[in-house]
Amino acid sequence: MEVNAPIRIGVAGLGTVGASLVRLITRHGNDLAVRSGRPIVVSGVSARDIGRDRGIDTSGMEWFDDPVALARDPGNDIFVELIGGADGAAKASVEAALGVGKHVVTANKALLAEHGNALARLAEDGAASLNFEAAAAGGIPIIKTLRESLAGNTVSRIYGILNGTSNYILTRMEQERLSFEDCLAEAQKLGYAEADPSFDIGGQDAAHKLALLTSIAFGTEVDASAIYVEGISSITSADIEAADELGYRIKLLGVACRTDSGIEQRVHPAMVPRTSAIARIDGVTNAVAVEADFVGQLVLSGPGAGGDATASSVVSDIADIARGDRVGTFGRPASDLEPYRRATMRAHEGGYYVRLSVYDRPGAFAAISQRMADRGISLESIVQRHRAPRTAAPGHLIPVAPAPVIMITYETTEAEMRAALETIKADGHIADDPQMIRIEQFT
Ligand code: HSE
Repeated sequence: MEVNAPIRIGVAGLGTVGASLVRLITRHGNDLAVRSGRPIVVSGVSARDIGRDRGIDTSGMEWFDDPVALARDPGNDIFVELIGGADGAAKASVEAALGVGKHVVTANKALLAEHGNALARLAEDGAASLNFEAAAAGGIPIIKTLRESLAGNTVSRIYGILNGTSNYILTRMEQERLSFEDCLAEAQKLGYAEADPSFDIGGQDAAHKLALLTSIAFGTEVDASAIYVEGISSITSADIEAADELGYRIKLLGVACRTDSGIEQRVHPAMVPRTSAIARIDGVTNAVAVEADFVGQLVLSGPGAGGDATASSVVSDIADIARGDRVGTFGRPASDLEPYRRATMRAHEGGYYVRLSVYDRPGAFAAISQRMADRGISLESIVQRHRAPRTAAPGHLIPVAPAPVIMITYETTEAEMRAALETIKADGHIADDPQMIRIEQFT
């Protein structure tokens, strides 16, 4: 093998992923050098606490207290940002590296979802690469797949399970019939949830990842603020049970698709047919499906988080740079990304699952069906699941207890669905706010 000069990397952030990255490079250094054409050497590191034992050998690596100084230091050729967060030290150091024309590899979805357009332009101005395979779906090589392998396709829809914590919670709720709260506590104990789990269960973590996939898939500027986001905290055991009986499973999906009015981006719990590939993704595993004109459908699944899986993606970006493979950050030159044209959620078309807590009295069913019909919504099924026992103490009136009613609709629009539910609520037939879950159909 011809020995080329090593490519030197500076790693900012030595948490789980940073430590795995150093371990991976140590363990697979020889193979990596052959595959990349150059040895990969960690020349500099930066982290908050120099004294912490991370189980890795950092001797021989120059220590920087300030990640921005590491980013600017000429002693490394690639700056690897593993600090996290949309702003602060992560943004400052990535900007500093790109500002001096240095290649950057990052696992930071929030940074790119919020500032991706400006950073892609900055990278281009300095003729540098800005690679982020690890930022979406951890160890799954979806960025490379979209940017390179599917370059000859027009993508019509991309969707997936992009948050392992939520998928773990929904899987446990279904398999063990546990409550949402119990499953969240379990996920926290096992270390799956982010420090602030509200980003996982609220859908924002998945939305950041979806924003990046959408940009590459559709050639548009990144616009995370245009994503409709709904988390999983409203999902109850009653929904999980009903979904099971109806042949569905509930998954937190990130979906982006082309519609006549623009691109729809949404993250929300969805009912997916039990027989679909995505329905079979359990636990913390992630999956991304792409529908494209020439290739048809692809589904990639694997670990969406974890030090080793994420480090595997970080290294693939480093190897590309070492080999001299350059691709525009979002798959094309930043100046060629089209402005994002948003399709409003009100225009979303699909079927719906609705669970109502209906006062059990004559005419309630008929009134609810009528309100649906008034909006042109056709019902595939309407079922009252359990009738509350109708007893009363001697001398008292029998109470009117609410009973769960489950409806499945045929395709309608979000605007009609919401309007119908508003009227049903105003009519006074239901005891609580309606539960509404979108049904995602796959070809
Ligand atoms: N907390 C994320 C998840 C992993 O649960 O999928 C990192 O994005």
